[in-house]
Amino acid sequence: MASSRLDRRSFVEQSVATGAAVVLAPLIAAAAGPPADPATGTVVQQSVSAKKIRVAIIGCGSVSGVYLPHLAQQPHIELISACDIFPERAKKRAEEFHIPNQYPHIDQLLAGAPFDLLVNTTDMQEHERLNRQALQAGKNVWSEKPIANSLAAGHELLALAKRQGVRIWGAPAVVMSPQFAFMAKSLAAGKLGRVAAAHADYGHTGPDWSAFFYQKLGGSLPDLGVYNLTTLTGLLGPAKAVAAMLSIVTPTRQIDRVGQIDVTEEDNAQVLLDHGNGIISHVQCGFNYFNPHGHEGKLETRHTVHIVGSQGYMGLVGYDWEPLGVDLATEEKPGIERHVPDAAGYVWQQGASLAANCILTGDDMLITPEHALHVLEIITAAREAQTSGRRIALTSTFNWPLKV
Ligand SMILES: NC(=O)c1ccc[n+]([C@@H]2O[C@H](COP(=O)([O-])OP(=O)(O)OC[C@H]3O[C@@H](n4cnc5c(N)ncnc54)[C@H](O)[C@@H]3O)[C@@H](O)[C@H]2O)c1
Repeated sequence: MASSRLDRRSFVEQSVATGAAVVLAPLIAAAAGPPADPATGTVVQQSVSAKKIRVAIIGCGSVSGVYLPHLAQQPHIELISACDIFPERAKKRAEEFHIPNQYPHIDQLLAGAPFDLLVNTTDMQEHERLNRQALQAGKNVWSEKPIANSLAAGHELLALAKRQGVRIWGAPAVVMSPQFAFMAKSLAAGKLGRVAAAHADYGHTGPDWSAFFYQKLGGSLPDLGVYNLTTLTGLLGPAKAVAAMLSIVTPTRQIDRVGQIDVTEEDNAQVLLDHGNGIISHVQCGFNYFNPHGHEGKLETRHTVHIVGSQGYMGLVGYDWEPLGVDLATEEKPGIERHVPDAAGYVWQQGASLAANCILTGDDMLITPEHALHVLEIITAAREAQTSGRRIALTSTFNWPLKV
């Protein structure tokens, strides 16, 4: 199948029609129970329908066309504002999703109609700065990946959020899938015996609608590898050290409305992770991968995540961001059996809706900023490993195992 430019972008915009079922209904139902007043222990008679989380979105490009339908379907969310430095993009999304306010700059957004949660779907290079500004203004933040450009800056954002009494989370949402939960539980139950090795891969021929994917602080690792790195660290534990080789396969690209650009960040990456206890994993990603299915996740039926141990093998069917099942073979049952073929409402674009729910209920979720920052440190360490030719020790960690 030809994966034309239009096909890829229209996929992103159209996939919601089938993919964005209202997945939060059980959560909302739980939230809808009257909460207890922490001071008196009595039930506060406040219905959730009366309390909505007011959401503003900044960055009205491609992925906003997937986020907004999901957000718009949630009964606990009110879409308040849309913002983009290209005002016509904010206008388009505002019209499509009946969003009452539009702004061309974050300063105006923050000074305008009040809201509770900023959903940041701007260029990767802009996230850190805009997230900081939103936190400083007392807003909660859901950010597309990466949350920040460096581990140190990410820690500053977390400290700032704490001081401001607000919260920040970042994509991806891969740990929320029932397939991830099945894999984590199988590992915890020892089904694979002594776990030894894992491999994960994700690639396509690269976006052509924006240049930032290929420019400084962009690259295939924060755009694509981030999913597999989140999955493997989520399943096998925080990494202790990283070795990597990165390269640029296609030094120039044609970008819509811009023309030819130089590619300055890796579009081809091989990353090795040491998880401790002898477990080693490998993530491979890039923007030069022939992919007969283009961007269409549900057509990918390969195992893109494999984990092997002394008594078993597990393969995730399809992508970790749109999983289709888990194949498991063990010493006890050596024939491969397929499990969890149903995503049970999980969709990759659900993170911002879940974040709004957490703000409403005060709950935590499996997606944590500490995990996102650990993955960010792996990415920056991989770049350092490439430049220095050395193996890089990591300093960050996150609460693991995840309570799936
Ligand atoms: N498109 C996808 O399939 C997809 C999927 C998952 C995640 N993501 C992630 O989402 C983010 C955005 O990707 P995209 O494909 O939507 O890019 P895009 O270029 O289509 O959209 C980004 C938008 O942000 C706007 N913007 C940039 N800086 C801004 C600023 N300072 N203030 C306000 N608006 C600003 C741009 O004008 C643009 O409209 C990236 O982090 C990407 O990795 C994209």
